[in-house]
Amino acid sequence: MSFSISEAVKYVGVDDTELDLFESQYIVPNGISYNSYLIFDEKVALMDTVDARMADEWLKGLMDTLGGRAIDYLVVSHLEPDHAGCIVRLLKLFPDATIVATAKAIAMMPQFFGEDFRASTMAVKENDTLSLGVHTLQFITAPMVHWPEVMVSFEQTEKILFAADAFGKFGALSAEEDWACEARRYYFNIVGKYGAPVQMLLKKASALDIRTICPLHGPVLDENLGYYLDLYNTWSSYKPENKGVFIACASVHGNTLTAAERLAEILRAKGEEKVVVSDLSREDMAECIEDAFRYDRMVLAAASYDGGVFLPMHDFLTHLSAKAYQNRTVGLLENGSWAPSAGRTMRGLVENMKNVTIVDPTVTIVSSVKEADIASMEAMADALIAAGIN
Ligand code: FEO
Repeated sequence: MSFSISEAVKYVGVDDTELDLFESQYIVPNGISYNSYLIFDEKVALMDTVDARMADEWLKGLMDTLGGRAIDYLVVSHLEPDHAGCIVRLLKLFPDATIVATAKAIAMMPQFFGEDFRASTMAVKENDTLSLGVHTLQFITAPMVHWPEVMVSFEQTEKILFAADAFGKFGALSAEEDWACEARRYYFNIVGKYGAPVQMLLKKASALDIRTICPLHGPVLDENLGYYLDLYNTWSSYKPENKGVFIACASVHGNTLTAAERLAEILRAKGEEKVVVSDLSREDMAECIEDAFRYDRMVLAAASYDGGVFLPMHDFLTHLSAKAYQNRTVGLLENGSWAPSAGRTMRGLVENMKNVTIVDPTVTIVSSVKEADIASMEAMADALIAAGIN
């Protein structure tokens, strides 16, 4: 696929609509794009390659767009194979091209491409520049967004930020869908652990007069950039984006789910406008992670199981912990038929998270929810509502 971002800057990335799981774990119902860009000037720079899955289609589009010109520089923002997967093939076509990357990326290349990998390389560091003619690339390191070798590039003449994985999203470019939904799911699952490095990058970006953002996944952003920057600031500072209660439920036979839905009704009846119930056994885990971060409060509702908590909940909390879930208020609802253990297990996992407050009371139901349980559910709902953000 090729289109113009400006007279000199062209998109030459590809959509991958047949991938089963991105990074072997995230469903991508609308595919994903691997973005790549060309800058034409006295010198020609290619900004990243794509996943090897799409090499043939990508190379065809690239060669058509090059129109006979050669690539002088291959700028490698990020060495993860969804972007670096075609470097070796590209260098066979353009053996005189110079790879421009951080020293760390250059040092890692033989790990991926073999010890006999040889290329002309230019290691760049913070604020180094590279003139292509009229265009000048300024390199800005972005370690841990979301690998250590990452850098972004700011083209000073057209004020374009080539942003690596930042501001990326799931979904092919051909998909017509809301940006925030799939960008949020991408952010929290892939970059979520690295809030502080993203904050650092946003601080560096605030010193630049950015007019266009060219990420490595998802659409080119050239309007209303404040919207995207504000969302990234919210997400990376671990602040809730929306007021609401997310009820994550792990139910073996449905009784815990019934209790979760009853709690949702109680919350709504008390005036809570946004309550979302998700069945962890059946809904996309990545979407559940996204919703946990999105809202300011969460209820963990789970069955007891093998002396602990039903495993979909254990799995969910393991994911949340890995993604540095923090700064939220949480309620616990457990179900147990002879020796309830879910509450104790969930509490132990949540207490290891940073700045998470567990409200009183924990609700315990025995096998199924009964009218006698409503008083404690009402009390939990009151405590959750009192803890809501304004
Ligand atoms: Fe899109 Fe971190 O690779």
